[in-house]
Amino acid sequence: MEQAPGNFSSPPIGVFDSGLGGLTLVRELTRALPGEPIVYLGDSARVPYGTKSLETVRQFALQCTAFLLQFEPKLIVAACNTASAAAADTLEAFSPVPVVDVIRPGAAAAVTATDGPIGIIGTEATIASAAYERAITELDPTREVIGASCPLLVPIVEEGRDENDPIVLSVLSEYLHDLQRRRLGALILGCTHYPLLAGAIRKLMGPDVALVCSAAAAVQKIQLHLAGLTVPASGETPAEMHCYTTDNPERFARLGRRFGGRPITHVQHVGTDELQAQLA
Ligand code: DGL
Repeated sequence: MEQAPGNFSSPPIGVFDSGLGGLTLVRELTRALPGEPIVYLGDSARVPYGTKSLETVRQFALQCTAFLLQFEPKLIVAACNTASAAAADTLEAFSPVPVVDVIRPGAAAAVTATDGPIGIIGTEATIASAAYERAITELDPTREVIGASCPLLVPIVEEGRDENDPIVLSVLSEYLHDLQRRRLGALILGCTHYPLLAGAIRKLMGPDVALVCSAAAAVQKIQLHLAGLTVPASGETPAEMHCYTTDNPERFARLGRRFGGRPITHVQHVGTDELQAQLA
């Protein structure tokens, strides 16, 4: 690695995801807290997490967290919904600094947004884990919750197709068909990639369904955490962001701009063997 661990002007926020998608959370984070330096790890060599077993994803999430801890972050963010669903409690027990996941903030935001039924769209693994249902039921045991997995959406978004593309609209219509008939009060965008399709989802679901972005809800939780910490932000605007990817840095920088809404200027490769060695 060129970048020496801990070589930030002030303690960074460590963010990880299975790949590029977590940059949609970074976009919200830099909008809300522009002065906070960020170290981001995208595990692009092992994406998608959403089709893997929860045990495998848990191991990957632990490795990503251990890697980010080298940078002495003030907190860690599991931007990936699938990793949050599989490993939020495990990461909290493992990490010496606070861990913010996206499931609990997303669930809380949905419960606040409506008294009606709540829909969730996410990867196969996120929906199968029932993590959102558990988080919602903890807050309101009587709430009706309906989940739908949308496995084609991640590859379609990574392909660069935008929400006006007929293929995107046709796939979304198919996935949202049942949810449209359930009189939802809110729909949780339970995957890093879905905020990029929010306009099309809104059109299909109609104006009465509140769209809840888990990433935005997690950023509010991060703001609360930071307000309680004594570690200062660098005050620089915009603060530095260093990215690591387990796959091709050039592709990460090129596609990452669309997800994160900002140029990716520092990106380096880190091998999955190096991640695995963190826990050996
Ligand atoms: N980052 C994942 C999530 O939010 C989507 C991509 C994947 O399946 O790894 O669930």
